[in-house]
Amino acid sequence: MNINQVKNICCIGAGYVGGPTMTVIANYWHNIKVNVVDINQERINAWNDKDLNNLPIYEPGLDILIKKTRGKNLFFSTDVESSIASADIIFLSVNTPTKTKGFGAGQASDLRWIEISARQIAKYAKGYTIVVEKSTLPVKTAETIQQILNAELTSSIYTTESKSFSVLSNPEFLAEGTAITDLEKPDRLLIGGDDANAIKTLEDLYKAWIPHEKILKTNLWSSELSKLTANAFLAQRISSINSISALCEATGADIKEVARAVGSDRRIGDKFLNSGPGFGGSCFKKDILNLVYLCNYYGLHEVANYWESVVTLNSWQQHRISSLIVNKLFRTLSGKRIAIFGFAFKSNTNDTRESPAVSICKDLLEEGANLAIYDPKVNKRQIEVNLNLQSSRNIANDNISQIKKFEAIEDCVEGADAIVILTEWDEFKIVNWEKISKLMRKPSWIFDARGILNQKSAIKAGFKVWSVGKG
Ligand code: UDX
Ligand code: ADP
Repeated sequence: MNINQVKNICCIGAGYVGGPTMTVIANYWHNIKVNVVDINQERINAWNDKDLNNLPIYEPGLDILIKKTRGKNLFFSTDVESSIASADIIFLSVNTPTKTKGFGAGQASDLRWIEISARQIAKYAKGYTIVVEKSTLPVKTAETIQQILNAELTSSIYTTESKSFSVLSNPEFLAEGTAITDLEKPDRLLIGGDDANAIKTLEDLYKAWIPHEKILKTNLWSSELSKLTANAFLAQRISSINSISALCEATGADIKEVARAVGSDRRIGDKFLNSGPGFGGSCFKKDILNLVYLCNYYGLHEVANYWESVVTLNSWQQHRISSLIVNKLFRTLSGKRIAIFGFAFKSNTNDTRESPAVSICKDLLEEGANLAIYDPKVNKRQIEVNLNLQSSRNIANDNISQIKKFEAIEDCVEGADAIVILTEWDEFKIVNWEKISKLMRKPSWIFDARGILNQKSAIKAGFKVWSVGKG
């Protein structure tokens, strides 16, 4: 099958990866029908919402592309069966969280959604289909998918229908908040596989906007492992700089100055050296733990321990911040109001998965604090579910009265003892601290876990200030 024969694409999983990726493909290929399917009806409804502010994920630039393509050649539905049946290429973008029980619990990826999808593909696909692994997966998952598909081929041998599959790995490197630019101008695009024709077809699909020299071709396992390794390296840089932030605070050095000096070495580079409350997001922790599991599985325990320490340091940084807040506020938070600025795991996204805010807020709640939370994109229910104050079935927990969500910074800080900046939203960089100070109880603290505060103006306004990595 060459690219001109591709008429229908199906993407299983309308999440943070599937939604934006398919929107960009649809925007470059007006003659290809792109069906994004999901079992979650609520999510599909949100993708189809007339009001583009209600899309299930917030990504700068996504709404404009959705407006151009949705209902023309981009469709969101729960119609998994018929979308698979008509597809020439199927992207698998379902979730692959860390297993919570059984063998490998806490480390290995839970592949149940991948397996269900592979079985659905095996059952409903017609003719020749290219199956593209898009979710982050453990090394050798493509082999499992291939085995499930092959099993169906052997079992349907007596039927009149003939089907065949090629499985490719094509990991996604997009970061949330910059998904559209990352998709349109990627540093590289990786395609792993051994079927040259299928690789060529997928490559041609992307060549509509990605230059030839940015497309890297590898074997299946290298492709799968590269994704895990890229995320592990990125996370490692954050743990490295965060470890030094603690030393800066102890010695009187400034982490920003150190990061600048270190990052000026071209061999090191200046990206991903912002010290903060630790990395969050759905990928880093999950992928490293996955790597740790793989290493242990293959008996490489020293390698496993090396990578696990990146995650350990990350949790330590979060608890270190919670603990110093308690210490500075006279070692008790009981009944005190703490204003939380930012709940998303980073700015420009409404995603809270593994957000450092979750663990820091839980620590503060344990200490008896009342939390007043402000985040421009995260909704109240999401926060309550993350803090285990409400189950996803709307059952409230006793501690729910300890948190309140506010729509304006001024309301959030009313009577508070401290502000904790946990997400680097731009609006926190231009706060009028004089005005805010008047609304708070004295002594008033700002704990700047992101290092974005204009310290001089905060101190001038009467605040006591702690900034990450500033001794
Ligand atoms: C990451 C990878 O960047 C992306 O390539 C991969 O496909 C998915 O995982 P994402 O999780 O969306 O993307 O966000 P990213 O921008 O990488 O940030 C991850 C976390 O690290 C955030 O919590 C962020 O605040 C933190 N971070 C990032 C820092 O603390 N300091 C930095 O210098 C950079
Ligand atoms: P990611 O960040 O990797 O995109 P998400 O959790 O945002 O992950 O999205 C994955 C989506 O895959 C979810 O919306 C989930 O409902 C969907 N999904 C999981 N299993 C299936 C399945 N068998 N068929 C269709 N959609 C599925």
